[in-house]
Amino acid sequence: MAASWIDIGAAEVLQSGGRLDSEVDGYYVAAVLLEGELHAFEDRCTHDGESLTGAEVESDFSTPCGVVICPRHGTRFCLRTGAALTPPAYEPLKVFAARIRGGRVEIATA
Ligand code: FES
Repeated sequence: MAASWIDIGAAEVLQSGGRLDSEVDGYYVAAVLLEGELHAFEDRCTHDGESLTGAEVESDFSTPCGVVICPRHGTRFCLRTGAALTPPAYEPLKVFAARIRGGRVEIATA
């Protein structure tokens, strides 16, 4: 079955370093751009279930992933796979397929 795409906002928000937040399929989803690559992940740390609002996003040359870093205890999650790269979280973040079409950010639903 082909994915459906949900519009979550204007890509220019990400291009100026911002983050888009939306609810998709019952998940709170955050979208960011890192070095021109679009990433979308569930906005919920798998360590304690809280939001990743305020999390830094950065390149990580020790892995092929950029990472999002939980602001509470510092787990680094791979933005491509969601894998927890450092403790205290061990479960991966849920990640979503995302694209930019016509200046809008879209997230794939299951
Ligand atoms: S709440 Fe995210 S690592 Fe602890």
